[in-house]
Amino acid sequence: MSFAEGILNGKSAIVTGGATGIGSYIVRRLGTLGASVGIVSRKEENLIAAVKAFKEQDGIDVVWRTGDVRDPDGIKKSFDEVVGEIGGLDILVCNAAGNFICPTEDLSWNGWRTVIEIDLNGTFNCCQAALEYLKASQDGGRIISISTTQADFGWPGAAHAGAAKSGIQNLMKTLAAEWGQYGIRANWISPGPIEGTEGVDRLIIQQGLGEEVKKNIPLGTFGEGDDIANAVVYLSSDTGKYVSGAGLAVDGATQWFRKR
Ligand code: COA
Repeated sequence: MSFAEGILNGKSAIVTGGATGIGSYIVRRLGTLGASVGIVSRKEENLIAAVKAFKEQDGIDVVWRTGDVRDPDGIKKSFDEVVGEIGGLDILVCNAAGNFICPTEDLSWNGWRTVIEIDLNGTFNCCQAALEYLKASQDGGRIISISTTQADFGWPGAAHAGAAKSGIQNLMKTLAAEWGQYGIRANWISPGPIEGTEGVDRLIIQQGLGEEVKKNIPLGTFGEGDDIANAVVYLSSDTGKYVSGAGLAVDGATQWFRKR
């Protein structure tokens, strides 16, 4: 089941952190539905391998540049170059993120700062770098940030990421309000546990929580990368044109499960 073929024809998109995990599913979906896609992330070897796989498995040509979302000047340069190659920018997916589990009492200042810089400041840097291009987008630019439902609750063991993702959600609301005048829509998606991603592997499986987490998913299974990618397409295309400043949880209702 998918969207109409070519629904994103003529659109250009950048996905940060698009070489791996959820980001790579988003890239595949946007690309196979017709968008010209560029990916920006830190590790050249991941980018090269991903672009090869996108070509061989999905038949899509994806442009890439290295870039660390923490570095505003570097990210601007990478975005400028990518936009030059993909012919403008209609869709920005702020997906790059960093996280690790550490109780707050053991969390160093640098550990806190690192995750805030990647997740929250990184999203700000990417939005700023994309603004001039999104303003020029014909049908209205789209910003879609990948958050988490955990941002709406406390997140024991991930204070840095919880605070950063909450901050991202508020940033999207503010940009929706400030940049609506430019036709830009700013939204976020909150994935639940998505199978086969580094997030689930490191934060759930490696913590020995796999079975317990699964029992607490009302729909009974982990999500798939395409569940998130389809939500991105909805918000990126004409289907989502009146949605701005909103969050879309794609989590099998996990956030609402509470043991009696
Ligand atoms: N527990 C406690 N502290 C940790 C940690 C852990 N598991 N991992 C990193 N830190 C601390 C480091 O000790 C360091 O603090 P210090 O200088 O006080 O010792 C600080 O965080 C920065 O670590 P560093 O490894 O230099 O940062 P980095 O920029 O190279 O890496 C991270 C960024 C920390 C987010 C890293 O986990 C990463 O790159 N992850 C891959 C991407 C990712 O997390 N994806 C999201 C999946 S949900």
